[in-house]
Amino acid sequence: MDVTITINGEEHTHDVEARTLLVHYVREHAGLTGTNIGCDTSSCGACSLHLNGEAVKSCTVLAAQADGQEITTIEGMADADGTLHPMQQAFMENHGLQCGYCTPGMVMAATSLLEENPNPTEQEVRIGLEGNLCRCTGYHNIVKSVLAAASA
Ligand code: FES
Ligand code: FES
Repeated sequence: MDVTITINGEEHTHDVEARTLLVHYVREHAGLTGTNIGCDTSSCGACSLHLNGEAVKSCTVLAAQADGQEITTIEGMADADGTLHPMQQAFMENHGLQCGYCTPGMVMAATSLLEENPNPTEQEVRIGLEGNLCRCTGYHNIVKSVLAAASA
């Protein structure tokens, strides 16, 4: 079936199997590999992106469900001139990443969190990101990054 999705402002149409997951559509058909796959149980959040402005785990959504919708991936966060999104900048400045595998998903989830709650407490950040797992950082600097972005 043909599925058309606007990704980072650009329309993509690909002929995919009905069972294709959105994360596979983005990575394999659209060629945007910044969105990672970290599990097969919908639990790690590495695949988080924005669907119509809200963070979703793209391994839990069929590409067909996103037909005609708009998504933003990590590749769409920085400006065209390379200026980082304030959340990306905050992660960089606060050492919010080590291996970086969880980072695209963290950034997407965290920006969505601040859209809903622009001035979260540390506890609200921890609760808001509990669907995103990081095996490296111990979360402290991730939370610090999000709080820094909120006050930027
Ligand atoms: S790959 Fe989607 S939640 Fe882990
Ligand atoms: S920085 Fe390595 S998994 Fe989070």
